[in-house]
Order: sequence, then structure tokens, then C-alpha cells
Amino acid sequence: MPTLTAGTDLRSEILSLKEERNAVILAHNYQVGEIQDLADYVGDSLGLAYRARETEADVIAFCGVHFMAETAKIINPDKTVVLPDRDAGCSLEQSCPGDKLEAFLRENAERDYYVIAYINCSAHVKALSDCICTSGNAVKIVEAAPADRPILFVPDQNLGAWVMEQTGRKMDLWQGSCYVHVEFTRDSIAKIREEYPDAELIAHPECTYAVRMLADVVCSTEKMVHYAKSSESGNLIVATEEGMLHRLRKEAPDKNFIPGPTDHCACAECRFMKMNTLEKLRDCLRDLRPELQMDEGVRARAEKPILRMLELSA
Ligand code: 13P
Ligand code: SF4
Repeated sequence: MPTLTAGTDLRSEILSLKEERNAVILAHNYQVGEIQDLADYVGDSLGLAYRARETEADVIAFCGVHFMAETAKIINPDKTVVLPDRDAGCSLEQSCPGDKLEAFLRENAERDYYVIAYINCSAHVKALSDCICTSGNAVKIVEAAPADRPILFVPDQNLGAWVMEQTGRKMDLWQGSCYVHVEFTRDSIAKIREEYPDAELIAHPECTYAVRMLADVVCSTEKMVHYAKSSESGNLIVATEEGMLHRLRKEAPDKNFIPGPTDHCACAECRFMKMNTLEKLRDCLRDLRPELQMDEGVRARAEKPILRMLELSA
């Protein structure tokens, strides 16, 4: 079969380029199955940040979205960090431009905000923050914040609201959201539950309050794997990006995973995550382009709150 041969050739090409470059391939849980299957590590934003910090490879090929590869570069200034598609952005990152946050902090200087930034943001925003968090450690990071300072949480209002529910800590929330996760609705979940009345619902904290309220568990993508493995339910509805189902099916093959539907589609796809392909991964390892480049001043400022996060959640 020609397509199978082409795919196999492409995979071997990637593996030999990886060897030649002394590269590591890191992939987020939302990547297409064939990238996940070939990666050295597949995980959530937190796991990927730790892996990026620990690696001894000379080159990091980051299969995720731009802010994830950028985070790897911030903590590895001397390594070459490449990504398959430079345009793989994130709606959360777009919702909080660095200059807008800078102006907001200037206008509200008397508040003396402690700024916690969800990792889904630009290096500029990270550089303006006191601590970074991911969905996997947001509760811990907020609990560790100074009690005598008001918190500004950027850019995800849904994750921020969920953390407030979990911790009881009041925060001012930037009004950003993930265009993928807000597509799950109370109605779309109710409909799929009619089909699978005994199924448990696993939801990402980027989902809206209405969906989180229906969930049996709200957690990061990595914690979804742990939850699914130990769940007693045979059917699990997964309210997050559909790439997650590949990982879940691999790790818990005895369970039936049902993609959470939206009002318009049978599942939710992040168009940014899906920009990466095996071909583009091969090209970036071969050409070492697109490569992450960054202003050293911004990088050094952005590194501090990331390292603070890694220390706090170790
Ligand atoms: P996780 O860190 O939970 O994998 O989430 C990343 C993300 O982009 C969710 O949309
Ligand atoms: Fe960003 Fe949403 Fe895509 Fe995650 S799923 S990368 S938050 S747009």
C-alpha cells in the first residue's frame, strides 16, 4: 500500500533526523495520533515544561502550539527549539496582548497586583507576571500567592473562575477564553448523556461554568489519564480537544471514551494544534526552522515566573 509505505518512510526519516540532530520530540496531548506515537514524551503543559527543562538534547522539536515551544526556549536559551508550524497559535494567547496587560497594570498601579498568568500566553505576558501556572497546578499556585496582595489572573476567565471555586480566593480575571472549550454547552453534554446515561463526564477547566457543573471531574489533560485509569465507569465522555482521546485510548484500552460534542460538531478540534503534521515535523528537524528566537531581556524576565512555578509545583 503506497500510503502506508510513505508514512513508514516518513517516520523513519524523522527518527534518523532526530538521531542526527541529537533532538528530543515533545508533543502535547492534543497532537494528531501519528505525532504522539513518535514523540519521546507526550503530556500536558506542565509535564512538557518539566521535560523541556530536564532534557540533555541539543534540539527540542516541540509539537504543540507556539506558546509551548516559546516556554521551552525561555528555560533553554542555549538550545535550538524548533516547531513544525510557526502559525500554531492559541486563542487564549491572542486574548491577552502584552501591551494591553502592560497598560492595564500601569493604569491600576495602586492595586499592586500579584499577577498569575496561565501558561497559555506570550513571553511578553509571562515577563509581566509574578508566577505562571498550568491547568495542572493552578490551584496550588494560587494557594501559594501572597495573602496580602490582590491577584490578577490572566488570560483564561474560565480556568480562573474554577480556581476561585476550588480555593475560595477572590481574583480579578482577565476576560479571555479558549475558543475550543467554550464550544461545549450544557445542551450538547445533556444530549450525549442521553445516549450514555451511565457515563462519567471528564472536563477541562477551560470549559464554562455550566459544563464544569455537570462534570464528575474537572482537571488538566494529564490528570484525565490518571482519572480514566482508576475510574470504575466503562464509559467516559471527554470534554476537551479530541486529540486527547488518542492518548486516553492508548493508556486505558479497556474503557470507552466518547468525545464531548458541541452544538455543531461531534467533537471539538483545536485548529492550531492540528496545524502540525508529520511532514512539517520532518521539515523542521531537517532544516532547523522555524526556530524560536527571542529578545534576551524578555526571555530573562519571563524565565523567573516559570521557574517559580516549577519550584512551587515540584
Ligand atoms: P493542559 O495543560 O491541561 O494540557 O492544557 C493545555 C491546553 O492548551 C488546553 O487547551
Ligand atoms: Fe489554545 Fe484552546 Fe487550542 Fe488549547 S485548545 S491551544 S487553549 S486554542
